Amino acid sequence: MTLAVGVLASGRGSNLQAILDACARPEFPARVVVVISDRERALALERARAAGVEALWINPKDFTDREAFDLALVRELQARQVGLVCQAGYMRILSPVYIRAFAGRSLNIHPSLLPAFPGLHAQRQALEHGVKVAGATVHFADEAVDSGPIVMQAAVPVAPDDTEETLSARILAEEHRIYPEAIRLFAEGRLRIVGRQVIVNAEARR
Ligand code: GAR
Repeated sequence: MTLAVGVLASGRGSNLQAILDACARPEFPARVVVVISDRERALALERARAAGVEALWINPKDFTDREAFDLALVRELQARQVGLVCQAGYMRILSPVYIRAFAGRSLNIHPSLLPAFPGLHAQRQALEHGVKVAGATVHFADEAVDSGPIVMQAAVPVAPDDTEETLSARILAEEHRIYPEAIRLFAEGRLRIVGRQVIVNAEARR
């Protein structure tokens, strides 16, 4: 069985592209069925259309508050019977309405070794802090920002002459590698959440 995935993206969509490319491989156990954005002109929506995937813009201005927006988001995802939702550069804070609907079935990627540097400009925060190692994290979403049980991390070295741009590019290459890998593990039924831990089973359970 192929897992139906919904992707939430607000911007450039390079992680979305990595996921779409992985899904295009015949043996990959997941397919993106819808990409939803809060920004009408998000490049992510164009990438979805180019891949033949439904691209949906939900305009935040049509809703009175975040809960109402997220309720509409949940309805769209449920209507397409997605088994997993991936936040890929989705820059809105998700409310409990969404988190409850997709508890244990929603992944996020963040450009730091969490729990270090959650929130905006993680790479800038890492440089300003003077860390020698930075990286990326895929984790299950929970009610806090860039929180939730960690599925996978990748580390990269920080060079003395790194700028936000050079460090971001190094981290992004790892994001593109680990996000599809985490989705594959989820689709194969190999992830089990125990408290804050994610246990990765060696055997695939389909
Ligand atoms: C990525 O670096 C992702 O990790 C980050 O936004 C970028 C989106 O790039 N997400 C966060 O900071 C979430 N807190 P993309 O649109 O090219 O995938």
